Amino acid sequence: MSDKLYHECHEIISQGKAILEDLQQWGFESVVPLPAEKPVATPGQIQEEKTTFETGALAELESNLMGCKLCSLAKKRKNIVFGAGNSQARLVLVGEAPGREEDETGVPFVGEAGRLLEKILLAMHLSRDEVYICNVLKCRPPGNRDPYPDEIAACEPFLQQQLALIQPEVIITLGRFAAQELLKTTKPIGKLRGQWHEYEGISLMPTFHPAYLLRNPSGKRPVWEDMKQVMRRLNLT
Ligand code: URA
Repeated sequence: MSDKLYHECHEIISQGKAILEDLQQWGFESVVPLPAEKPVATPGQIQEEKTTFETGALAELESNLMGCKLCSLAKKRKNIVFGAGNSQARLVLVGEAPGREEDETGVPFVGEAGRLLEKILLAMHLSRDEVYICNVLKCRPPGNRDPYPDEIAACEPFLQQQLALIQPEVIITLGRFAAQELLKTTKPIGKLRGQWHEYEGISLMPTFHPAYLLRNPSGKRPVWEDMKQVMRRLNLT
């Protein structure tokens, strides 16, 4: 074996080892091949999907939101981040609020937390175009600060209408704000996650926010436990 080939093999084995170690952190005990490999979508592709799938009443709701000045976030936002994905999705994921990259592109979860969310979806045998992703707030809070109660209240009717139009079988809330907003509770996320709740007759599973997982990888295992419950409920296993 030549030196070059030896080094290439060594590199491939090291990368494989790193991937298996990452999966182990999620609580995987064995690896089975996915039915088909789907590439992680680029923001451009996501934007294309967004326009394809947002039809009818959902598109009308989005156009009602254009130019919204119901709260002070309107002053500094670059784009309203309405939501993206399949308007007939069986699963809706609700995050907190757009960050810098989402504000720039108008698409939810395209930054680092979004890339982690896509990995979670892939592990559930789902892609972004099969689910619908949106946030409690449709505009970016400056410096990614926590949403204020008046901002949540101003944006609430839009989220409520999105969910009423999509009528998914399951909602996953990501992090404290989405869970507390939809469940009308002040309980901490640590107490809410991992158990089924109900929002307007729809099964709701709260879990940790992907941004929290980036800072606390030990949260990945409980998140995977929550996702396995969702997979069972949607018969994805
Ligand atoms: N965090 C969120 O809660 N939503 C996004 O769209 C991006 C990051």
